[in-house]
Amino acid sequence: MYSTPFLDIPALTGAAGTVRLPGSKSISNRVLLLAGLSAGTTAVHDLLDSDDTRVMLKALEQLGCTLTRRTEHGRDVLDVTGIGGQLRTHEAALFLGNAGTAMRPLTAALAVLVTLQGGSFELSGVPRMHERPIGDLVDALRGLGCAIDDLGQPGYPPLRLRGAAGGALRLQAPVRVRGDVSSQFLTALLLALPLAAGTQDVVIEVQGELISKPYIDITLALLQRFGIAVQRNGWQRFTIPKGSAYASPGAIHVEGDASSASYFVALGAIAAVDQPVRIEGVGADSIQGDIRFVEAAQAMGAQVQAGPGWLEVRRGAWPLKAIDLNCNHIPDAAMTLAVMALYAQGTTRLTDIGSWRVKETDRIAAMTAELRKVGATVDEGPDWIAVTPPQPNAWRQASIHTYDDHRMAMCLSLAAFNAMAGAVPAVGVRIEDPRCVGKTFPDYFEALFALAHTEPAGIPVIAIDGPSSSGKGTLAGLVAQQMGWHYLDSGVLYRAVGVAANDRGLLPADAAQTPDEAAVQAIAAVAAALDVRFEGERIILEGRDRSLEVRSEGGGALASRVSALGPVRAALHERQLAFRQLPGLVADGRDMGTVVFPDAALKVFLTADAATRAERRHKQLISKGISANIDSLRLDLEARDERDRNRSVAPLKPAEEAVLFDNSGTNIEESVQQVLQWWSTRSGA
Ligand code: DC
Repeated sequence: MYSTPFLDIPALTGAAGTVRLPGSKSISNRVLLLAGLSAGTTAVHDLLDSDDTRVMLKALEQLGCTLTRRTEHGRDVLDVTGIGGQLRTHEAALFLGNAGTAMRPLTAALAVLVTLQGGSFELSGVPRMHERPIGDLVDALRGLGCAIDDLGQPGYPPLRLRGAAGGALRLQAPVRVRGDVSSQFLTALLLALPLAAGTQDVVIEVQGELISKPYIDITLALLQRFGIAVQRNGWQRFTIPKGSAYASPGAIHVEGDASSASYFVALGAIAAVDQPVRIEGVGADSIQGDIRFVEAAQAMGAQVQAGPGWLEVRRGAWPLKAIDLNCNHIPDAAMTLAVMALYAQGTTRLTDIGSWRVKETDRIAAMTAELRKVGATVDEGPDWIAVTPPQPNAWRQASIHTYDDHRMAMCLSLAAFNAMAGAVPAVGVRIEDPRCVGKTFPDYFEALFALAHTEPAGIPVIAIDGPSSSGKGTLAGLVAQQMGWHYLDSGVLYRAVGVAANDRGLLPADAAQTPDEAAVQAIAAVAAALDVRFEGERIILEGRDRSLEVRSEGGGALASRVSALGPVRAALHERQLAFRQLPGLVADGRDMGTVVFPDAALKVFLTADAATRAERRHKQLISKGISANIDSLRLDLEARDERDRNRSVAPLKPAEEAVLFDNSGTNIEESVQQVLQWWSTRSGA
């Protein structure tokens, strides 16, 4: 996971493979509440792991539900044992973060339960939650006879719900709730009122035009799974039949998020030329409204096959076809169409998207500004946007502002396929604040890079070369980690070859002696077929954990010997090139910038004086539980430098265009920042 303020996506040229979507947030929290109110245990599969689901789980635990995590066929399952409609705890303070999908339904369910069974609950959240309205729901519940205290500003959380055992609800007249502010108020009542429908029908009437109907469909479908068959008359009147009681389905799968699916449907339509992009977790049987994005993508040219829980998408028409579409039914996923429009012939117009203006950001303004940055011609109106793609020579490398809006980040990443639209030159895309995707899809970019491909030459490399113990390993590892890039420690490869060659008795006992020609060829063969794996910090050489030996001074000395052999270097060449994978590589060693990745976009030659290096090496060894003497370390280092510098093959020297960086007086954080800054200005987005 990257932690830099930006993520650079190189120009991409294709995509194929399978992505499993994270669970839908709306479904996750509804399922959790229903399972928590039911009797018995519900095995919840594929639950979304996010801030909003975490607060719901915590609340359920406080209410006396039992939660047990386990895995089944390698996938996480959560067993939720519910309270069966009977309060186990009659007093608690529940903190619900910024999760509207927890606050609204829990307010309704607990208000009903305390009115009938007695108790007192306080519900609160983060400051932003205390600015999100709940008054219409509270009014509806008060109309039923529930006692609800405003603990802050009336109409907003925090709230206290109280009641004495043996109370009753007024259910003779229909429960009235407004539907034109948030459909979550109706959802909350629908989820909670089966608790009160034992002896009579419960009727809910919606006042005002109901918005976000697809979300009510999700609520009704999930209630059905838990044994509650709500009768719906239009979108105005809902009846929970007398005798309704939650019945756990035993096991339930949370669908993947259909809005998140849109990015991969678009990816398939744009870039899956030979093999499809397969999306698992959401499919033809989806209960989510945004699944209808698929029809819009098909209209633009996507070829889609669908089954239960899966979609497969390939490129159909190319370029894509421009469309003119009313997007009222798919407001969130429609943003993805605006980016697909970059690859269409003509102008795509998306209308009836006024709600974009009041989402995480003003999405019409944001989309207009950012699509213009990559070269598109964009017009906007109060509730529409029109996008015309750039001419092939007009694509621009852009730094995309994301407005703390996960969807802006995910959408604009798809602008990186411009080479496929004939862009000359093809350009990469910089996504600012990439971690904003955490709201719904924490691993979005990892998923994208697992499917997308490009020519190796298009994958950026940062080469960090330098003498032993200059700190390049630590520096390169941290830079890679912060950028979310791959990391190659080439020294470890030479060390592993040294150890394996020594195991086989291929190195002369006298270290000053070079192996004969036959031995050199044998060592090269060992290098070519080397069975080495990296598991975090562990080095598994030929099936055994040899981390300590490989990292020891002895391992370094063996490496120094085998690395002076031309055929060994040649044998490791391909293996090192294979580390060059999306979104980028940080490689450290001696010849990364000169021989292995001569086209590296940034080359750093890292040095430090011998005393500093000996001291660092000493600390490093001690921390790994390897004892060492600082003076002999210094002598060894100097001798090894001498050998590495003077050997005939690939002698240690800075690449011509390398930045020389003496980090004797710089601590590691500063060094990392320095490299990131060089990268940031060098790649010049
Ligand atoms: O960086 P290190 O100490 O792990 O390297 C061990 C030895 O391997 C060192 O003597 C130089 C050699 N080496 C090399 O020749 N080329 C590389 N790319 C990396 C290491």
